[in-house]
Amino acid sequence: MRIIIGNDHNGYELKKELVRYLKNNRYYLEDVGCDSIDSVDYPLIAKKACEEVLRDDDNLGILICGTGIGMSIAANKIKGIRCAKVSTEEEAALSKLHNNANVMAISGRIDKSLAIKFVDKFINTSFSNEERHVRRNNQIDNL
Ligand code: RB5
Repeated sequence: MRIIIGNDHNGYELKKELVRYLKNNRYYLEDVGCDSIDSVDYPLIAKKACEEVLRDDDNLGILICGTGIGMSIAANKIKGIRCAKVSTEEEAALSKLHNNANVMAISGRIDKSLAIKFVDKFINTSFSNEERHVRRNNQIDNL
């Protein structure tokens, strides 16, 4: 599994913390985000990160912008991406368990320790494979 992380200027500080955490925990990580607080356009970073995620079914993406909203909207335009904008630990877990999300978007304004909890839940929860969720995910794919 590779974890692809992407951020805009509003996600830069939190991105640095998450990169440190993920590297310390020996995850295979790719950082396609910006490396300063200079303003950049998040849709282009969402695109780049999602294209990397789609290279392998095992890959996961983490996108960070000011709110997580713009990144999630941009990511969900890309076929094959199921991006969840996550604000609680439960949402991080359910986005995998029910929605089989392959990308999580978060706000760069949340506390580092909370973001780490979201990341842990997202990485360590698997899709339930229950028929009702498979069916609904397929319906989403066909919209
Ligand atoms: C950038 O100004 C800001 O719009 C972005 O970080 C994010 O909050 C978008 O949803």
